Amino acid sequence: MRISVIGCGYVGLVTGTCLAEAGHEVVCTDNDPERIATLKAGVVPIYEQHLDAMLTENHRSGRLSFTSDAGAAVRGGEAIFICVGTPPLENGEADLSAIDNVARLIATEASESKLVVEKSTVPAQTGQQLKRVLEVYRRNGGAEFRVASNPEFLREGTAVEDFLHPDRIVFGVEDEQSERQLREIYRPILERRFRCSVHLTGCPTTKPPTLVVTTISSAELIKHASNSFLAMKISYANMIADVCEKVGGDIKEVTRALGLDPRIGPRFLDAGLGFGGFCLPKDVQAFIRLAERSGVDFSMLKEAERVNKHRIDLFLEKIRQALWVVKDKKVGVLGLAFKANTDDIRFAPSLEILRRLLAEGAQIRAYDQEAMDRTSNVFPQIHCCREPYDVAREADALLILTEWEEFRLLDWERIHGLMARPLVIDGRNLLNPEAMMERGFEYYCFGRPTQTATPQFMAAQVSKFSEASARI
Ligand code: UGA
Repeated sequence: MRISVIGCGYVGLVTGTCLAEAGHEVVCTDNDPERIATLKAGVVPIYEQHLDAMLTENHRSGRLSFTSDAGAAVRGGEAIFICVGTPPLENGEADLSAIDNVARLIATEASESKLVVEKSTVPAQTGQQLKRVLEVYRRNGGAEFRVASNPEFLREGTAVEDFLHPDRIVFGVEDEQSERQLREIYRPILERRFRCSVHLTGCPTTKPPTLVVTTISSAELIKHASNSFLAMKISYANMIADVCEKVGGDIKEVTRALGLDPRIGPRFLDAGLGFGGFCLPKDVQAFIRLAERSGVDFSMLKEAERVNKHRIDLFLEKIRQALWVVKDKKVGVLGLAFKANTDDIRFAPSLEILRRLLAEGAQIRAYDQEAMDRTSNVFPQIHCCREPYDVAREADALLILTEWEEFRLLDWERIHGLMARPLVIDGRNLLNPEAMMERGFEYYCFGRPTQTATPQFMAAQVSKFSEASARI
């Protein structure tokens, strides 16, 4: 099928590339001509596992192309996927102006009937507004527009896997032809029959996906309800972690047993700095506003958001308690991205932590394998290091802000020797507290027993002190 994708951001690029991989002829367009030029030159502007190789392969074969002529893209596609951004407005509601612009573009450019698919995350009722705009601005009387909602559940870092091996696919449709067309588009993925140009590992499920066909409004709600539920689950785990700290429990032990109940499930129970990124925080806010507008007080969700924001305060308090005075302390930061396996720092907890530590006068050295360039654009005053060990050199404290597997595998003995004070504050509960304390670290995390003054720790401090005195 000839498919047009409007918006070459994260969702649009993954959608376009994967639909081409599934055998369709896909044209992607964006209102940023520079982005299109970059893509035409074969450069992928975001870091996402497998995307680079798959995009290059499909671009080379001609199944995937890019154009800055949005009108031509609209005219050429039988189905048009809207993948533009819906960022938060000041009041937390989703800004739907890009959707409105695209709807008017489709209405004025299309000379034939089109299936218009809402892929961007939008509040319930957007589909109905979309239909209205398409109808009101329609230029060509012969063009009939069918609207469908097809929410995405991609996670950054595993987006290509998630698209091609999803656990569920949702079609929000209101007519048979739209459903038929969407089934045709997704047939290779639903039947698991396509040749994959890259080797996908860690496929989340080997079963074919479940197809859920609903109304447009339900499909829109499914997306917001899913992200909001995940956010609540994380905040719930974080509250249990706080209780663990007070009564001497271990959050890892508690959530492990909790997650073994199939009604609860083990995922999204990792306590720490809380949820960031461009999806969960904004979708929770947008869902709260939608509920408010509809006269529903979704206070549970407001509480999940409040708990999440408070994680940063708690983390900074741990830093202050350990360091006493933050001013002029050398603080090493491991991890800047909002989560592992991405270069995305949008709404990352690291940003607020850096901002506040800098305001308090800390000297910051940071390392992240993917997100350093983006962060130094925001904070030119931090020193970005080429390798994690440089961050530790002469540091008074080392903070872990992203759960990159690389950090777990570091040579922590070496790091111990490099630091001025072997103090680690782990915002992601990534490391094993016992192992860290055995190595002589002063170690703090969330919801797990930590002790600072083990005999090994004291001995290490004394020997460091003697060495320093000998040098003087
Ligand atoms: C999220 C959803 O998981 C996807 O299903 C959805 O499609 C996507 O938003 C979207 O709306 O586009 P993503 O933003 O990539 O995906 O990130 P998540 O994997 O959900 O992680 C969000 C945040 O929660 C991260 O900061 C992560 O570190 C944090 N998190 C996650 C925890 O603090 N604890 C956990 O147990 C899990």
